[in-house]
Amino acid sequence: MKKKKAIETGNEWIEVRDSPIHGYGCFAAKAIPKESRILEYVGEKITKAESNRRGLLQEEQAQKNGDGLVYIFELNKRYDIDGNVPENMARYVNHSCEPNCEAVNIRGRIWYIALRDIEEGEEIYIDYGYDMEHFMDHPCHCGTPSCVGYIVNKSQRWRVRRMLARKKKTPAQKA
Ligand SMILES: C[S@@+](CC[C@H](N)C(=O)[O-])C[C@H]1O[C@@H](n2cnc3c(N)ncnc32)[C@H](O)[C@@H]1O
Ligand SMILES: [Zn+2]
Repeated sequence: MKKKKAIETGNEWIEVRDSPIHGYGCFAAKAIPKESRILEYVGEKITKAESNRRGLLQEEQAQKNGDGLVYIFELNKRYDIDGNVPENMARYVNHSCEPNCEAVNIRGRIWYIALRDIEEGEEIYIDYGYDMEHFMDHPCHCGTPSCVGYIVNKSQRWRVRRMLARKKKTPAQKA
């Protein structure tokens, strides 16, 4: 596959370039100590109603041309952030079932914070924490031992694992 050009980030901690998992990814430009605030998820603050409207539009677009990347992040009960803006480098962070970062809301701002020491060159991941609903629409390619093959939050993975195991069984095995 053709390599995409690296993106200028303006952030000393990170580089954005091709990811083995999906499209672009965010990589540590140098060693990052545990608990560092690496980058902020910035964008347009929108109401839930507007967020739902944009979400549906994105879905429609995905069905038309397969380009369905979602950049909406939940800020709180009333507002979301639409991170589909050029300066938002956090939108390039992929999901892993064994993440090295977490998204934390600090006084109304979303920061990606290192869960452990991260080595230079490692890809930066968070757990997207998706609900189990429609999990089949979100296959996961993180390849970690904890992965169930789909992007699903940690507390529901055992359910997905059980569901998939049942699907695999023949009718005789199920009886
Ligand atoms: C916010 S974007 C992440 C950046 C994206 N790689 C890019 O090039 O813009 C989210 C999308 O990336 C893809 N993605 C992220 N993590 C993934 C994973 N572990 N496995 C498969 N696809 C993933 C999914 O298509 C998801 O909807
Ligand atoms: Zn995974």
